[in-house]
Amino acid sequence: MTDRRILIVDDELSVRSSLEEWFREDGFVVETAEDGQAALRAMDRGPFDIVLLDLKMPGMDGIAVQKRIREIDPQTAIIILTAYASVETAVEALKLEEAFMTLLTDEERDKLVRDNMQAADLGAAPGGWTWVLVRNGMMVTSVDNGPLAQNLLDSGRVEHLRADGFLWQPKRTLDWMVCDMVEQPRRVAERMATWFQQNWCRQAIFNLKLPMKKRVAALNDALNSVRTALNNKGIRYQLESKQLYHDREEVTVYLARKR
Ligand SMILES: C[S@@+](CC[C@H](N)C(=O)[O-])C[C@H]1O[C@@H](n2cnc3c(N)ncnc32)[C@H](O)[C@@H]1O
Repeated sequence: MTDRRILIVDDELSVRSSLEEWFREDGFVVETAEDGQAALRAMDRGPFDIVLLDLKMPGMDGIAVQKRIREIDPQTAIIILTAYASVETAVEALKLEEAFMTLLTDEERDKLVRDNMQAADLGAAPGGWTWVLVRNGMMVTSVDNGPLAQNLLDSGRVEHLRADGFLWQPKRTLDWMVCDMVEQPRRVAERMATWFQQNWCRQAIFNLKLPMKKRVAALNDALNSVRTALNNKGIRYQLESKQLYHDREEVTVYLARKR
């Protein structure tokens, strides 16, 4: 027997009931919630050891709910359930979602993350970041030699190009470019700077991977190369960077052209 408390959040009654029964049989104290709002109300009756959270729900989706739950109780383990895409895709999706939440203000998000915007995702496979862009109503060109999740290809909003993300360029200025290619930070930074010098995009979010020993020096070198390239061209820009996950050797950067 265990006295562990679990909260099951899923909009489908049959899923909630089955999971509730199974966990009760295993000795858990179980509560259920049919959507994000109900889940947050249930958190007031916490603490819970575990929250089982459906990713795709009407209204507030699982990504938004997990963020609020983490704010309410950082100790709660959150397990995301998804029939929509692989867990790998879901976990990748959280990274870009977190970047939008952390690096942009509410006002910037309202203005800059909108329906029918045009975006590119460089190093897109398996497709978590592309999924976040699609979920925000964007049309996305996803560049990667690797395979993309089928549900993205079926969405009608994604064009998958098997091409080199360091060579591909759009035919016209895009609203967004995101990039998660695993490469030397300096090389990624230089390519990002080229995108802004050539006016291929207005905003970008990209990751700089820093597995090396001298990571602070590598980060500064990469960011300074962007600043120098844009300053030399007289481009006005906003640059924010943050290590979003302390257990990951990467820094996420938001770069935007100032109007
Ligand atoms: C960390 S994964 C990206 C995960 C992705 N952001 C997601 O949400 O699913 C890095 C990807 O970059 C791709 N990649 C690395 N170098 C590339 C290149 N030169 N051109 C295109 N894709 C590249 C790899 O194939 C890999 O799929």
